[in-house]
This record gives sequence, structure tokens and C-alpha cells, in this order.
Amino acid sequence: MVTGASSGIGEEFARGLAQRGHALVLVARREELLEELARDLRDRFGTSVEVLGADLGTPQGVASVVARLSADGEGGLAPIDLLVNNAGRGEGGTFVEQDPVQMDAMLDLNVRAVLHLTRAVLPVQIARRAAGYERKLGVVNVSSMAGEILANPGGSVYGAGKKFVTVWSESVSAEVRKQGVHVTVVLPGFVRTDMTRGVQEQGMPEFAFVPKEHIVRDALRAWSSGRSVVIPGGQYKAADGLLKLLPRTLLRAVTRRMA
Ligand SMILES: NC(=O)c1ccc[n+]([C@@H]2O[C@H](COP(=O)([O-])OP(=O)(O)OC[C@H]3O[C@@H](n4cnc5c(N)ncnc54)[C@H](OP(=O)(O)O)[C@@H]3O)[C@@H](O)[C@H]2O)c1
Repeated sequence: MVTGASSGIGEEFARGLAQRGHALVLVARREELLEELARDLRDRFGTSVEVLGADLGTPQGVASVVARLSADGEGGLAPIDLLVNNAGRGEGGTFVEQDPVQMDAMLDLNVRAVLHLTRAVLPVQIARRAAGYERKLGVVNVSSMAGEILANPGGSVYGAGKKFVTVWSESVSAEVRKQGVHVTVVLPGFVRTDMTRGVQEQGMPEFAFVPKEHIVRDALRAWSSGRSVVIPGGQYKAADGLLKLLPRTLLRAVTRRMA
């Protein structure tokens, strides 16, 4: 299952997984785009594709996806081997200017939905593993490098939400590993998608962008090999190393200049 499969990184996950021969469940609000993608993937790869229209920013939308994730093979619905929690939104602006309603909506989607979908699928996967199922089982969470910088002026709520997902994901990964289920968190830097149209138009340099194909390739490789965290792109791996080495006082001074 891929959430947020109607565009960007999620669509690329769907293409990458179909190409590798996996049956799919595609989730997002824009069902017409999902149907179009499903037709294309069936034609190209001969794979089975279900479409599940849901607004993951609402309790009802989350409940409908939770119901699908709870399928354990009884009743005709195939259980989910891999959940990719990718759906997300990235509104920014200074904290005091941010619309509180929009802020809640972003956290509901980027954090709460991710927790609830994962909470639904992991028990089923653990039970299937205990019953002898041999193929790989687990979850890939799409977080962000935005949570790794010391502070994120102009993106405080988005960055902190993504940091939550990263830290929580690593903890859950450690908890379920011994039960033979893998949770991987992927931390993309900038990727050319609808979400980054603004920075693309502002002339962000080419080297800042990682192709979405690389995000998907690195995430699936990391998940397959049981790694709990992956940062795609040499430039972002280097930046992460630097962020860990530099003194916090210096990082704070840089952050103030950014603000
Ligand atoms: N692009 C980057 O530079 C970047 C960097 C780091 C992390 N990320 C993360 O990557 C993920 C994908 O983002 P993207 O860059 O590919 O952006 P995108 O092209 O805007 O895709 C966002 C996806 O999320 C879905 N979505 C949004 N709101 C939803 C809702 N309420 N319910 C269900 N689905 C919803 C959208 O589908 P519908 O509109 O059809 O619902 C769409 O498929 C996000 O979690 C984002 O935070 C992106």
C-alpha cells in the first residue's frame, strides 16, 4: 500500500513497486488520478492494483484505510506486506503567521495518520510472520531532512512533525525487528514535486534536488536489507554528517541568519 500515490514521490513508489512485480493498493484523495495510474500500471506491468480514495487528514479517512490494513487474508482481501506512509503536506511560514487550522491539518496528516496506519498494520504483520509467512513485511515512512537541521525557521511545524516521525519510526523499528518485521524511515532532501514548486520557481540550485527515482530505489533497498534509516543523495548524507559534527552554538548562529 502506498499513501499519497496520486503524485510526486508516492506515484514513483507505486511505479517502482509495480515494476518489481508487486500488487498494489493506492491511497489519496484524488481518486481520478489514482484510477489513471492504476490503469497504466496494470497495462504496463500486468499487476493487480486497488484504488482507495481517502482523506487521511480526517478520522473517517484514516478509519477506512485502517480497515483495509487490518485485512489478514480472510474474506478475500490480500493482506499488506509493505505500507509506504508517504502522503504529506508542507505548508510553511513563520509560526505566528501560520493558520492554526492548517497547522492541525498538517499534523493530522503528517503525524497522526502515519501513527494510526502503522499501528493497524504491524500487529497483522507480526501475526503473519509468527504463522510462518516468509516474504519481507513492514513499513517505510517518508520523513524529511527538514527535521534534521537544528531549527527550521519558516518551517517549524513541518520540520518538528517530520522529526517526530523519524524518532518514533526508529524506536518502532527497534521494537518489531526481533519479530521479523522491518520499519525504515527515509529522509529526503529537496525533490522536484508539486510540494517544492515554490522553491523550484525561486531558483533553488540543481545540486539541491535528488531525483524521486533515487528516493524510491534507496528506500526500498534499505527496507529490503533491514536498515532503519536512509538518507538518499550524497549531498544530503554529507550534510547530515556535517550537522552532527558542527558545534550547536555555530549551528544556532547560522539558523538565526537563515531566519
Ligand atoms: N518534495 C520534497 O522535497 C520532499 C522532501 C522531503 C520529504 N518529502 C515528503 O514526501 C512525501 C510526498 O511528498 P511529495 O513531495 O511527493 O508531494 P506531492 O507531490 O504534493 O504529493 C503529496 C501526496 O500526498 C497526498 N495527500 C495530500 N494530502 C492528503 C490527504 N489529506 N489525504 C490523503 N492523501 C493526501 C496527495 O494526494 P491527494 O492530493 O490526491 O490527496 C499526494 O499524492 C511527503 O510526506 C513529504 O513531506 C518531500
